[in-house]
Amino acid sequence: MTRLVLAALFLVASASWADSAMDKYDRTCRICHANGVGGAPKTGDVDAWRPRLEKGMESLIRASNRGLNGMPPKGMCYDCSDQDYEALISYMSTSAS
Ligand code: HEC
Repeated sequence: MTRLVLAALFLVASASWADSAMDKYDRTCRICHANGVGGAPKTGDVDAWRPRLEKGMESLIRASNRGLNGMPPKGMCYDCSDQDYEALISYMSTSAS
């Protein structure tokens, strides 16, 4: 029973966290990454993301924080944590979208 309650709590917690990361995506990353504005690797375009992912997640999180060429610092997401960036990058770089 306790295990079931814990599992349910975990599901609720992770679902609401995922929601807030998706809110952030909708408000920020999406503006450019949905359509590849300024050469941004498109969301769900696994091939475009592959060479980026090869640089390593840490390097991509750093680029998100600092900005890169056409991408403004923090990707315009001023309340994003490193954990949010990791979730957003994983989301954008997979075809699950
Ligand atoms: C104003 C447009 C814009 C927004 C908003 C934006 N990006 Fe980008 N992003 C770009 C462009 C353009 C590039 C390609 C930069 C290059 O390689 O020259 C890019 C590249 C990236 C890369 C690859 C970096 C690398 O080292 O190869 C990551 C990771 C990334 N964006 C994450 C995000 C995240 C996460 C968000 C939302 C929080 C976001 N971006 C919002 C335009 C944007």
